[in-house]
Amino acid sequence: MTITLSIIYLIASITFIFGLKMLGHPETAKKGNLIAAAGMGIAIVGTIFLNNLNVPTFVYGLILTAIAIGTVMGWLIAVKVEMTKMPELVSLFNGFGGASATIIGLVEFSKNVGDTMQTTTTMAAIIIGSITFSGSLVAWAKLNGRMKSLIRLPKYNLINNLVALGLIAFGAYIVYTGTDSLILLYTILVAALAYGVLFVIPIGGADMPVVISLLNSLTGIAAAITGILYTNMVMLVGGILVGSAGLILTIAMCKAMNRSLTSVIFGTFGGSDDAVSGPKSELGDIKSTTASDVAILMNYSQRVIFVPGYGLAVAQAQHAIHELEQLLESKGVEVKYAIHPVAGRMPGHMNVLLAESNVDYDKLAEMDDVNPEFKNTDVVFVVGANDVVNPAAHNDPSSPIFGMPILEVVDAKQIIVNKRTMNPGYAGIENELFYNQKTAMLFGDAKKTIQTLIAELKNM
Ligand code: TAP
Repeated sequence: MTITLSIIYLIASITFIFGLKMLGHPETAKKGNLIAAAGMGIAIVGTIFLNNLNVPTFVYGLILTAIAIGTVMGWLIAVKVEMTKMPELVSLFNGFGGASATIIGLVEFSKNVGDTMQTTTTMAAIIIGSITFSGSLVAWAKLNGRMKSLIRLPKYNLINNLVALGLIAFGAYIVYTGTDSLILLYTILVAALAYGVLFVIPIGGADMPVVISLLNSLTGIAAAITGILYTNMVMLVGGILVGSAGLILTIAMCKAMNRSLTSVIFGTFGGSDDAVSGPKSELGDIKSTTASDVAILMNYSQRVIFVPGYGLAVAQAQHAIHELEQLLESKGVEVKYAIHPVAGRMPGHMNVLLAESNVDYDKLAEMDDVNPEFKNTDVVFVVGANDVVNPAAHNDPSSPIFGMPILEVVDAKQIIVNKRTMNPGYAGIENELFYNQKTAMLFGDAKKTIQTLIAELKNM
């Protein structure tokens, strides 16, 4: 490797670290993303042209054509994707990362036979890459509704753990014996692909965010392993950053869902699709209200808290809610946003959405900080949120979200819930909050409803 290439890799690694740091705040996130992407760009160009690949010229043509096709496809998909479809896209990208590591492992296998360290790395790349690939495709299919959310084979825990142990044993056997048997290699490949499927199919509903960030972390680990395989510093650093950031996110998500990481890995994870927190008849009647009544209520309140959820994102109501916030503040009402860590469909979804409409970052309150404040709040306005305010998480041990921390909106003096119908949210379960004495339902699309509210308030 030339000294120039080493310097390029060093610069690229630094851009990854700075980029990642800048992703930590909405104001710097876009720039951070661009800086890291530029670093990746120079690392790719450097790798191709300064690495003395020793290949015929037409191979350069093939590489550049592949890069051009990938770039155009990636660009078009990323530009077109809706904010609410982002987790599906992340899942697909995770899968492609895993597939790349697997292909590298397969290509390198026969070259490394006999070298214990290299074969260990190759095996790890194939196993982790394949699990990530097939697991991510299943997660993608679940997120876009192509696959039933929860499929549990009989004794699925036992089967999954046996396949996982089998993979480790087979991998160790190949490393220990130094065999170059392609039959064994492809058996491992198929078993790892099967494990990825088996690992993700029993997980459903509200637990999917944790799985997606875990798969994201695995993609990073797979990339880091291929970095070791090629003693390529930039792949190693990039992989470690993705792997560790993904793991930190997984742990944060586990905390938000009140699940332990071991229960994720060893398969005792996820709720049941059948569990519904009480039939409707037992929950009583709902009370519906009108925009003009809600406008009056908010106008005469001192403190209002907005609880945004997935529906706000679907309706693209972020600008409208910001306008409502400013209008209320101009009338002397104190307004805050309560942000649940898994509100929406991806980590930080609500923060990103509200930052897009220039909501002051200080107005966003995290769950633990805001929960004690609800009891002193006149009105909570729940907009397109459902699971993250569902009291079944506290009251109903049979509920798939039992144990998940929620926004305790039920403590507020009045609760207004805006959604279009009585349909359940992502976890597919009833929400007894809607039947609470203090709750009134304001039915309608979030954006249109908020715009009507704004018009009513302006007339007061
Ligand atoms: P959900 O529980 O999914 O509820 C969203 C609600 O929005 C629905 O009940 C829906 O009711 C309503 N809605 C949809 N379109 C609307 C519109 N145009 N206007 C008004 N309301 C609309 O959302 P949440 O409370 O944000 O909870 C998030 C859920 O997603 C959790 O279960 C979480 O685990 C899961 N999840 C989260 C992530 C991450 S990391 N954030 C990733 C994947 C999954 P109607 O149909 O009646 O309108």
